[in-house]
This record gives sequence, C-alpha cells and structure tokens, in this order.
Amino acid sequence: MTSTPPAELTVGQVAARSGVAVSALHFYEEKGLISSRRTSGNQRRYPRETLRRVAVIRVAQRVGIPLRMVKDAFGTLPDGRTPDRDDWARLSAAWCAELDTRIDQLTRLRNSLADCIGCGCLSLDRCLLRNRDDRLGEQGSGPRRLLTPALRKEQRASTSRTRSSPGPADGQIDGYRRE
Ligand code: FES
Repeated sequence: MTSTPPAELTVGQVAARSGVAVSALHFYEEKGLISSRRTSGNQRRYPRETLRRVAVIRVAQRVGIPLRMVKDAFGTLPDGRTPDRDDWARLSAAWCAELDTRIDQLTRLRNSLADCIGCGCLSLDRCLLRNRDDRLGEQGSGPRRLLTPALRKEQRASTSRTRSSPGPADGQIDGYRRE
C-alpha cells in the first residue's frame, strides 16, 4: 500500500527531497523566494509546491539568471494557492527573452572558448588576427566577441549605473549576498 505524500514539509524534508542545504533554504526564505508557516511549536512548514520553486531557483542560478529576476517572476505566481500549469506558463513566457539571451551567450562561449574572445588579454596566437593591439577594447569592457547584443545593452546600462552609484558590497551579486 502506498501512502499519500504529505501536503506540508519540514525544512529537513524539503532539504532531503530537493538536495539543497537547509542553510540555502533559509537564505531563499529570507529573500522572499519561498515561504513557510510556523507551527504552534515555532517550527517551519513548507507547502509541497516549495519543491518546485526550489528546483526552478537552482536551475535558474545554474544558468546565471539573477535571483532578483527569479523573485520578480515568482511575484507573478498566485499567493495562497498552488500555482497551476497556466501560472507557470505565464512565468516562463516572461523569462523567454532572458533565456534566449543566456542560450545565445552560452553557445558563443562553447563555440569560441579556444579562440580569441576579445577580452584584452592578447594571450593567444589568434589575438593578433582577431584583436590586434586590443582594438576591440575601444568598443567597451569585457570579452567583446562573447557579448550578445542584449548583453552589450545590459552592460552599457550597468556601466552608466555604476558611474552614478556605488557598486554592491563585497560578496554581493545582483543585490543578494552569496550563500
Ligand atoms: S583571448 Fe583575450 S584578447 Fe584574445
């Protein structure tokens, strides 16, 4: 006989099923990416759909999507009920452009890692041909040959932001402290 999986999980159960450390789960909760209720004994209980949220967070992190974007996307999911298929479809539609940019970026990286990427190092024999005297550096910072048009735009925007405001504190990425 099979037993019905519980609708709510302890933090240890979420950690065990998701493969994510308890400390990371606390971090996600602190940042508003997942939420729990407290029992009368002050213990956390997570709705089972938290497993799906954690899975999406981990995959997004792995492909370089900033946590603040994940949080914004989760903000479109309904409060108080388990997101259904249409809810997740809406969320993925909002991420389409971002994911296309990431895929383009990763494809460029895969295809040109052994070639000159236009980063200014001039350390490969190919650099002489593809970036003589670091001419690509005149276009801006970073590996010029790896940047997709969308990332160039993003970089220009972040450069002007950096010029007008102080950068994130050490150990912070996208406004969030690393785990
Ligand atoms: S690989 Fe860095 S400039 Fe060519």
